Amino acid sequence: MRKIAMLGSGFIADFYTMSIHGLRSRDKVISVYARSQEKGEKFARKWNIPKVFTDMAAAIYDSDIDTVVIGLPNFLHKEAVLLAAEAGKAVLCTKPLGMNAKDAKEILDAVEKAGVFHGYLEDLVYTPKTQKALQYIRSGALGTPMWARSRETHPGPHSDWFWDSNLSGGGAIIDLACHCIEITRNYIGKDIRPVEVVCWADTLMKPIEAEDNAVGLIRYENGALAQFEVSWTFRGGLDLRDEVSGTEGSMRLDNFLRTGFEIFTAAGSEGYVSEKSEADKGWIFPVGDEVHELGYNNMFADMFDAIENGTACQETFYDGYIVNAIMDACYKSVKTKRWEPVELEIWRGKTNVAKMSTLKDYDEHHWFVKEEVMPDGSVKIILKEKSSNKIVQRWKNF
Ligand SMILES: NC(=O)c1ccc[n+]([C@@H]2O[C@H](COP(=O)([O-])OP(=O)(O)OC[C@H]3O[C@@H](n4cnc5c(N)ncnc54)[C@H](O)[C@@H]3O)[C@@H](O)[C@H]2O)c1
Repeated sequence: MRKIAMLGSGFIADFYTMSIHGLRSRDKVISVYARSQEKGEKFARKWNIPKVFTDMAAAIYDSDIDTVVIGLPNFLHKEAVLLAAEAGKAVLCTKPLGMNAKDAKEILDAVEKAGVFHGYLEDLVYTPKTQKALQYIRSGALGTPMWARSRETHPGPHSDWFWDSNLSGGGAIIDLACHCIEITRNYIGKDIRPVEVVCWADTLMKPIEAEDNAVGLIRYENGALAQFEVSWTFRGGLDLRDEVSGTEGSMRLDNFLRTGFEIFTAAGSEGYVSEKSEADKGWIFPVGDEVHELGYNNMFADMFDAIENGTACQETFYDGYIVNAIMDACYKSVKTKRWEPVELEIWRGKTNVAKMSTLKDYDEHHWFVKEEVMPDGSVKIILKEKSSNKIVQRWKNF
């Protein structure tokens, strides 16, 4: 049984507690930390939580708890993790790990030095579809992933501090691309080093300093490419989509919004439909089990099982650090308008990985390029002559 201090009583603390209390009844949120006693008590009443703290350190040092879950604004993650490490508590932190890679490295160093368990709460790699997709990737069903694309777009965040880059560390990149980067990293292979990035970002619509839209490309050492698209100005709900293209197959996933569950209501449904939905009338897109479909259940099960079994969980603070380093490079590239290197002070994956091979033998004299069935039923084969490098075509069965 995990005995948890929940830091924060806002949006994500609500989802985390819903998942923890609903999933394995043996885990319990024992306390909540909120800035105001009143807000803390409201949250505690809602989730049947015995203790309320308005002092973060007191919540973390409380001897009744063994695990700290951080659901605070980005600028407070470091302070909270450093306290948890000092107190010797297992600590799980929401995304992004730090405001930047420097912050994230300090956070990682602190938990490793203290020897406490650390889990990076990147729920979107734990969605049921993503977990199944990763099984297909690992079994080789798609061959080597060459290109992975992830999109997270919605009409903008729900609290003031997200919109102030001094408190959040940036705009749509730090808020949303952190998800996309870790999703695509999982597909390409977390042991493959991200080498360089190029990124476009702009403030198209909102009266803020930070970017409200961005598109980025991340090149990995084996030649694979990750692509993210993020927006705080997309209308119509929360759009979460991924695609992977491998040497032997391809895959596309809709994790939210258009998942095959669509309702038309002229009468309206009054109120909340699903995260970031903008309509409760007309065509609406509800979600069967939001905490499960967004990955929270699989995520906490993986992390609590790992704590109890003394094993590693899928997402650690090391992963959070890599994501922050990639985002730092993105912010740099936005300014320079060039490819920028991903600067990593720590790298624990493979080194000197060769670019994936593109050459497939057809016969002694040819490389295989492709084969296609034509409308008349003939089969055309495109080949490259090994001796001359010339591209030629042949017909099979015609
Ligand atoms: N899917 C996800 O993984 C996901 C989704 C949403 C948010 N998040 C992350 O969760 C964290 C919190 O976001 P949220 O959506 O819950 O925000 P929120 O604004 O709904 O809640 C933030 C909580 O922190 C408290 N807080 C705000 N300023 C504070 C301060 N100065 N000192 C102490 N407490 C303060 C608020 O009162 C509130 O309880 C962020 O890091 C965000 O990136 C993750």
